Amino acid sequence: MAAFVPPGAALASSLAAPDARRLRAAGSRRPAVAAARPGGGARLSPTGAPSPSAPPTMVVAVPTAVNPTPTFHYDDAGYMVVEGVRVRDMQDALGEEASPFYVYSKAQISANYEAYRAALDGVDAIIGYAIKANNNKAVVKHLAGLGAGAVLVSGAELRLAMEAGMDTSRTVFNGNGKTPAELRAAVRSRCLINVDSEFDAAHIADAARAEGLPANVLIRINPDVDPEVHAYVSTGLANSKFGIRNSHLQWFLDYIRDAGDDVLRLAGVHSHLGSTIKKVSIFKDAADIMLGFVNTIREGGAAPHLRYLNIGGGLGIDYERVGEELPSPADLINTIRPQLLAGGLTVIMEPGRSLVGNAGALVSRVIGVKTNGSTRFIVTDGSMSELIRPALYDAYMYIAATEPGGETGVFDVVGPVCESSDFLGKGRSLPLPAEGSGLAVMDAGAYCHVMASNYNMKRLPTEVLVDGDEWRIVRKGQTYEDLMLGYEGLDI
Ligand code: LLP
Repeated sequence: MAAFVPPGAALASSLAAPDARRLRAAGSRRPAVAAARPGGGARLSPTGAPSPSAPPTMVVAVPTAVNPTPTFHYDDAGYMVVEGVRVRDMQDALGEEASPFYVYSKAQISANYEAYRAALDGVDAIIGYAIKANNNKAVVKHLAGLGAGAVLVSGAELRLAMEAGMDTSRTVFNGNGKTPAELRAAVRSRCLINVDSEFDAAHIADAARAEGLPANVLIRINPDVDPEVHAYVSTGLANSKFGIRNSHLQWFLDYIRDAGDDVLRLAGVHSHLGSTIKKVSIFKDAADIMLGFVNTIREGGAAPHLRYLNIGGGLGIDYERVGEELPSPADLINTIRPQLLAGGLTVIMEPGRSLVGNAGALVSRVIGVKTNGSTRFIVTDGSMSELIRPALYDAYMYIAATEPGGETGVFDVVGPVCESSDFLGKGRSLPLPAEGSGLAVMDAGAYCHVMASNYNMKRLPTEVLVDGDEWRIVRKGQTYEDLMLGYEGLDI
């Protein structure tokens, strides 16, 4: 695997402890430069302003980091390139108004999808892309074109899936609080619908009766397997707000049967344990439990439509970029393949992060560099408003310079938002950046743009898609006027 290293990058002696721990030698194609040059190549002033005569010097403390996404790499001059396009060129073309912005690599999304498709060879399967991870229409269209179905959690996501050309009979409508209108649309569109609770079962039946069409349902069961992830992204434990309690399964089977075949049809079972899971054994444990339920249901008779085993999403990605051996889709599927084949079932997988996460980055501009006490800060125009994962989950996301800088130092990378939780990364080893230069938060293709907000009246950022040597805007960033739309026609 290629290293994610600008050419000429040198391991500074001041390598930050947090990053130093994360970095280790791992199969670089490029020989890493052994040591920082005398003087550290620092030709930027302490505030980050370049000295007029000095050409930029590259000293970056990341020579051993593994690059899990070769679609994002560095050219020989030390500029980050996405597929065939320099990030700097996109920044210049978009201008300051469209900064920060998200960039996605189409080829990386294709490669991620292909990993699932190849892993599922020989298994009857639906790869249901979790649109909540990244709802950019160009991304959804691309995945639909590759053959993906979808996992939906709102009526708006269903509309988007339809507009993106998805076959809605290969979508699952999910959620613990689906509204009557959403359910009617889902029934009309022939989505598979997850039953999440007693009231949800009743609402789905109402929607089916109102539409005069049967609803094909999956029962979402909590297998009560600990996914070993942050509490906020853990969903399959006994006390979770999602899904039904195992002990109530019979009640749901009776309810579905009593509603009649023209109203509710039991098409399968579903579980989703959580997100950012790093152990395949966790999926295997859950799949075994779920297959147990399938057998119980089948033994009880009266499940003629039962066909789907939905094992949810949740596969983690290498946010730390240390070359950690994370399970691949093939590892995951291979652990459960015999059970799937033996059960004669169609498997549904619901990946979000592992399809799009490492295909995106948030590119910010450096506004300035300052020091308070013992902490040096790089202040960027990107903030928790555009990318909230670090602030919300204390999530680690790798930050990389997109162009040559000065001497490597240790910095907290923060935004301009009025919150101390407004940080993108802490204690990062980075080359001292010039004002206006670019910093990329890597692996920001999932749960980043979709979770952006207008806090501090910041505007939702522009999104661009790179395809080989070409790139284009695939969603416009908001303008001030967009923020004012909600006042239109009102007397304020
Ligand atoms: N299926 C269901 C029922 C889900 O609830 C989710 C994610 C997925 C599939 C997709 O999971 P994935 O493969 O992407 O891990 N905002 C958080 C993640 C929330 C995940 C919510 N559910 C984050 O930024 O990490």
